[in-house]
Amino acid sequence: MADFAISMKIIVSLLFSLFIISQTVHGKRQCDLFDGIWVYDESYPLYESSDCDFIEKQFDCSKNGRPDKFYLKYNWHPNCSMPRFNGEDFLERMRGKSIMFVGDSLSLNQWQSLTCMLHKSVPQSQYTNVRTGLLSTFTFLEYNVKVMMSRNVFLVDLVEESIGRVLKLDSIESGNKDWKGIDVLIFDSWHWWLHTGRKQPWDFIQEGNKTYKDMDRLVAYEKALKTWTNWVDSNVDPSKTKVFFQGVSPDHMDGKEWGEVRAKSCANEERPLEGHKKYPGGSHPTELVVERVLKEMSNPNLVYLLNITTFSQLRKDGHPSVYGHGGHRGMDCTHWCLPGVPDTWNQLLYAALVYQNYHYLI
Ligand SMILES: *[C@@H]1O[C@H](CO)[C@@H](O)[C@H](O)[C@H]1NC(C)=O
Ligand SMILES: *[C@@H]1O[C@H](CO)[C@@H](O)[C@H](O)[C@H]1NC(C)=O
Ligand SMILES: *[C@@H]1O[C@H](CO)[C@@H](O)[C@H](O)[C@H]1NC(C)=O
Repeated sequence: MADFAISMKIIVSLLFSLFIISQTVHGKRQCDLFDGIWVYDESYPLYESSDCDFIEKQFDCSKNGRPDKFYLKYNWHPNCSMPRFNGEDFLERMRGKSIMFVGDSLSLNQWQSLTCMLHKSVPQSQYTNVRTGLLSTFTFLEYNVKVMMSRNVFLVDLVEESIGRVLKLDSIESGNKDWKGIDVLIFDSWHWWLHTGRKQPWDFIQEGNKTYKDMDRLVAYEKALKTWTNWVDSNVDPSKTKVFFQGVSPDHMDGKEWGEVRAKSCANEERPLEGHKKYPGGSHPTELVVERVLKEMSNPNLVYLLNITTFSQLRKDGHPSVYGHGGHRGMDCTHWCLPGVPDTWNQLLYAALVYQNYHYLI
């Protein structure tokens, strides 16, 4: 019986390898994972929120009373076939390795999604989930795989000095402190760059010897992102470390962007924009900055962009709206319900790791 199970495993992984190779041999990147359509599929979601009692309340829409269910059933179909998510295979490939999400609450959203997807794949397998300060570590003990979340909303340094809180666009101490030695790094930063007033956590912005009271936020973001790509260019060895950028996660605050002029938020949105290639609201300006900065790297192949912006723009139905913070306090059209859209980001992360590493299989 055990022998049979083992040989079945070998056959399945061989077929899988052949599938991956057949996808890769004709031409370089014929498969654009980020170009496709959302399809209603009864076999989704990959887990229920009750399978995963560590989901934070702000993402646990069904537990918070969201009544509609269509949003759980949409799955992304790239215009070429993609392997279904296989959590056991993911953990097996990552055995002994560490994955770290670095960024804001949208990183937290994706981190929680991945821990749920993996836990659902191996529900009997023991895990620990420990939070110390700004770092959360979810460990699959049997596989010795750590899936971490490091909260770091700007990536560059925010320092308390005598003049006040200074955001330093050209200084990135977390690089050497926190990111060295991690096998897979997935970064994100954007939403905190928009904060003003009491929510703005800095008093000054500094670049070199110049200190500013304020600056165009997209310009400041671009400078900080360059500091980050410079760090990657000079510190990452691609044979040891895979680096991803999560991409810019879109909000849905204004119905004009998706052709419903009277919608003032994502409230009551139950369906995605189906079959649309282009979002009526057009490209996100921040997405263009990310693409430019990545293109200017001395080795642009070091960072794999999870190009989530355009296809997530179609998911006006995916946000918690009033089912985020446990009832009717506040409207959240920024984060995403779990299960939900970040599960797709992780399916693509998995596919990207598999495609990039297809030769590991043989
Ligand atoms: C990201 O996806 C959009 C939509 O498919 C596309 O227009 C854009 O060129 C892609 N960006 C990159 C860097 O591949
Ligand atoms: C997928 O879309 C890209 C860009 O639109 C196109 O170049 C490619 O031929 C398509 N591939 C398939 C298999 O349809
Ligand atoms: C900052 O000022 C110091 C001394 O005034 C100078 O040595 C240094 O080169 C300056 N740095 C930059 C980045 O301009």
